[in-house]
Amino acid sequence: MHVGILGGTGPAGRGLGCRMAAAGIEVTLGSRDKARAEAIARELAATWKDRGLPIRGDTNAGAADADLVVVATPWDGALATVQPLRDQLADKVVVSMVSALVKVGQVLQAVQLARGSFAGTLQAALPRAKVAGAFHHLPAEDLLDLDSGLMADVLVCADDPEAREATLALVESMEGLRPLDAGRLTQAQAIEAFTAVCIAVNIRYKARTYVRMGGI
Ligand SMILES: NC(=O)c1ccc[n+]([C@@H]2O[C@H](COP(=O)([O-])OP(=O)(O)OC[C@H]3O[C@@H](n4cnc5c(N)ncnc54)[C@H](OP(=O)(O)O)[C@@H]3O)[C@@H](O)[C@H]2O)c1
Repeated sequence: MHVGILGGTGPAGRGLGCRMAAAGIEVTLGSRDKARAEAIARELAATWKDRGLPIRGDTNAGAADADLVVVATPWDGALATVQPLRDQLADKVVVSMVSALVKVGQVLQAVQLARGSFAGTLQAALPRAKVAGAFHHLPAEDLLDLDSGLMADVLVCADDPEAREATLALVESMEGLRPLDAGRLTQAQAIEAFTAVCIAVNIRYKARTYVRMGGI
């Protein structure tokens, strides 16, 4: 399995890429600047040199050559990032970890998008791709620290059965993460909006929270 991460040089992409690579998944961190992605990949590999992480850096187009692609840019740059890659992403599973949030005064709020969620917007922009939503509520710092003891649930949603199964299997393979099938892609609206709640709680309690559902 080879996973490419668009915008993989940010905290979210680095954390996710590091944890995927620790599971033996070949990872390409994508960037608008190939040299920056290469430097960050080298740095991650050096930090965890005992783990032999199979991670490298490339352009976003290079990362889009992977079998499965994760979108990890800010929401307002994501469509411009994927649109030139439409043909490369056709028939692939594309996982959105993006939450569209905007600061209103001191408070982060979910943006009301015409298609309900960013994942739905992405599916509309990439009609030939198989879009899933996942990884929205994970604290990047804890993903990046492979020794953090993270034990988080990851809510996965998708309309396409292959997107759902591939994303659930990917999450399952990563240490410290439990995949939960949250249903259709329309659930992304609530999942993405809940990120604003997690961030508000983090600020209030000076914490790095994550989702863990009881009863399962
Ligand atoms: N941070 C978290 O804890 C966390 C957790 C879960 C989900 N997320 C989600 O993951 C996504 C990334 O979060 P982040 O904190 O890693 O964000 P970030 O650092 O602001 O951005 C990630 C990367 O995206 C690229 N980028 C920035 N602006 C761009 C633009 N306008 N167009 C195209 N590429 C751009 C940059 O890479 P280059 O300059 O190298 O191209 C940057 O390193 C967000 O959508 C967020 O909602 C974040």
